[in-house]
Amino acid sequence: MALADRIDVLSKTGPGTKTGALFRSVWLPALLASQLPTPGCAPVRIKLLGEELLAFRSGNGELGIVQATCAHRLAPLYYGQIENEGVRCSYHGWLYDKTGQCREMLNETDKTICAKVKIKAYQCVEKADIIWIYMGEGEPPALPKFPWMDLPKEQRNATVWLQESNWLQGIEGELDSSHVSILHTNPATMATSPVHQHYSSKDLSPKIFAKDTSIGVLGIARRNADANFYWRVSQFMLPAYSSIPSANFPVGGRGYIPIDDYNCYTWDFNYDLKGPLPQALLDMQAKGLVFPPESNYKPYKLNTGSIIDTWIPVRTVANDYLINRGDETLASPSGILGLNDQDRAMQETMLAIEGTDGRITNRSQEFLVAADIVIVRMRRRVLLAMETDAALARFREAIEDGSAYNVEPLDIVAEQSEVNAFLERFNDRLIAPRQVAN
Ligand code: FES
Ligand SMILES: [Fe+2]
Repeated sequence: MALADRIDVLSKTGPGTKTGALFRSVWLPALLASQLPTPGCAPVRIKLLGEELLAFRSGNGELGIVQATCAHRLAPLYYGQIENEGVRCSYHGWLYDKTGQCREMLNETDKTICAKVKIKAYQCVEKADIIWIYMGEGEPPALPKFPWMDLPKEQRNATVWLQESNWLQGIEGELDSSHVSILHTNPATMATSPVHQHYSSKDLSPKIFAKDTSIGVLGIARRNADANFYWRVSQFMLPAYSSIPSANFPVGGRGYIPIDDYNCYTWDFNYDLKGPLPQALLDMQAKGLVFPPESNYKPYKLNTGSIIDTWIPVRTVANDYLINRGDETLASPSGILGLNDQDRAMQETMLAIEGTDGRITNRSQEFLVAADIVIVRMRRRVLLAMETDAALARFREAIEDGSAYNVEPLDIVAEQSEVNAFLERFNDRLIAPRQVAN
């Protein structure tokens, strides 16, 4: 199979697909706990890996994620009533518990029938103010042990919003270190990160290196920093997580979780191991200057017809991302306000494969250069992880106890000029240096 076709395989994550199986091997963030604030509150429509689902918190306080439609005549359970034991379809009153088992059929006199009806339901747990879902078969692994998972509330935050592209475009942007100095040059967003700002903007063509880890890739950018070198190490972790450095600022990462082949949820995670998140970060987030973009929480009908409840960015392709080329206060060649708005403007409207509604990049037309090495390595890493059953089993083993995700980014000025010397010197600062392979 041609490489472009193989990469195309990565874009497909619906039931029965290989990439879908990879995503179904891990716990995925499904929604924020705040979307289901109280027992018996309104349910939330989500869509993951091509499946329309409904998340609810029953009157008894139990979480459930079940298929979005009733087994009877397929009415949306979203309009049902949340009761102590689960969700009751409003059409004819069939009641489902969190396991998807039908418990009652108001329009059926034969009481034995409902025991035979069960709708799809997935395991879910609440942790770090996020509701996580496991969509695979068999026993799930441990939750990923991201460094922020057990921190007190004030030392972390997570946000989520819609990106109207295939997931792969999103995660590729995470591993694309050379765009940072070019697309994102707004001083308002980089002011709190003097080292990053200073050397990133002075050296637009960093030397990029890629190193495999047990569950992903280290993306290493080396820029000139006067007599020394400014090293910026990001991480890709299968299937779609990143860990991104940010100089003197709290660090974080993102996740690009497929909604379907044409849309994904972008998750942003910030944390500070030392103390509460600084007000400066929270202020920038509130203004939509960084991540998340300025957004509104509302029902939204996707191009694929499904309706989901999530945060919808204000700046979208439909309004040209509110581009203002003449606005000098932006000081960004893009003329677009927020960092994520800038990213989405690049990623949501790339040259696409015909018939994908502009949502899946046509990678057979790309002209890649040395700066893209981490992206190339990341694609290959995903391909290799899901291409054979044995590879997938190895991946599952690597994430079994969740510790492989306990990694941290690194962003530092150092005298080392050679990548292996740099990695050796900063082994203790690097995420999981024991993972580094050649
Ligand atoms: S469609 Fe749900 S009970 Fe009839
Ligand atoms: Fe970016």
